[in-house]
Amino acid sequence: ALERTLSIIKPDAVAKNVIGEIYARFEKAGLKVIAAKQKQLSRAEAEGFYAVHKERPFFKALVEFMISGPVMIQVLQGENAVLKHRELMGATNPKEAAPGTIRADFADSIDANAVHGSDAVGTAAVEIAYFFAATEIHSR
Ligand code: CMP
Repeated sequence: ALERTLSIIKPDAVAKNVIGEIYARFEKAGLKVIAAKQKQLSRAEAEGFYAVHKERPFFKALVEFMISGPVMIQVLQGENAVLKHRELMGATNPKEAAPGTIRADFADSIDANAVHGSDAVGTAAVEIAYFFAATEIHSR
């Protein structure tokens, strides 16, 4: 099915200057960037975005990391976009990520793991609405 997913290029990958290399992987896989913004997240924004992880031991470090520099946030659209994007990213822990995936190639640790992607279609809708107004999304 034609799906949308939320993608975030995290502060570590933005600092490594690989936004374009990561976008090229999306495009080669048939995913279209239909919305995008670069943003310095506030603490409140990062906490709200990761609210489901609030009770997890890594929550504080995750929020600190996500506000350590600007992120690049985009909506990707394509056939099976949610799973396709997750396959491009590789496992959450870069030590477990398959060769050739974004995390294997660009991530340094489970915290500084280069990218975020929605885990399901329902989550994607919530995450997209968290960062983008409908008028900022350009279906094509
Ligand atoms: P992300 O897909 O952005 O969702 C939550 C993030 O928490 C995850 O990527 C990791 O960067 C980070 N994280 C840190 N420790 C863990 C852990 N033990 N399990 C899952 N996510 C973790």
